[in-house]
Amino acid sequence: MRLVKLLANLGYGSRKEMQIAIRNGWVTDKEGNRLKAESKLPHEEILFDDEPLDPPEGCIILLNKPLGYTCSMKDRGRLVFDLLPERYRVRKPALSFVGRLDKDTTGLLLFTDNGKFLHEVISPKADVAKVYEVELDRPMTGGEADQFSSGELVLENDTHPLKPAELETLTETTARLTLHEGRYHQVRRMFAATGNHVNKLHRAQLGNLTLDGVEEGQWKLLGTADIDTIFGKDS
Ligand code: URA
Repeated sequence: MRLVKLLANLGYGSRKEMQIAIRNGWVTDKEGNRLKAESKLPHEEILFDDEPLDPPEGCIILLNKPLGYTCSMKDRGRLVFDLLPERYRVRKPALSFVGRLDKDTTGLLLFTDNGKFLHEVISPKADVAKVYEVELDRPMTGGEADQFSSGELVLENDTHPLKPAELETLTETTARLTLHEGRYHQVRRMFAATGNHVNKLHRAQLGNLTLDGVEEGQWKLLGTADIDTIFGKDS
């Protein structure tokens, strides 16, 4: 891909601005040699303003989502995109969420522009488990685990039952819940069906991938080993 188009697609600026950036010598190789519009160099060897380029097309980003941020491109209020460099909002191809989290849910959120990866993660065949830590308003009554694992629970406004899910009770009001699908407000609606209310919800794991030291509000680019972890190919 031509350098101007590559930089514009990564969100550094318009094509016109990128022509000017190249002309001004802001785009170099690692030795500081100025690149030309027709230069062809591997992505990882190009610097913009002395910094390595943002990841190429096909990237997967993990964010530890804080409370109060919305998974949307253009809602009012704080958006998860506010936590990434501004360029990431206008990259082409665009970044999408891999399974949204509610505004009031925290934890592991992925973004990608890799359609194949997105499809694989949400495909029932891959059965990528999502693990949630839940804090409830009232003590559980004891029947929740059986209800959730039955494969027969039909949530309000749904027509077909949920897939069996595993509930691990930690205390009377805290639990870990593992889901094998992703429906709208699923965890909150599951506990609502038991007459309870979710006060705090945190996604801790996707497949075997955890936040592993990524602090709240921070993000990192995932590598091949992390991606294998999502699909349980690490074990
Ligand atoms: N289930 C919910 O209710 N909310 C989320 O954000 C994720 C799963």
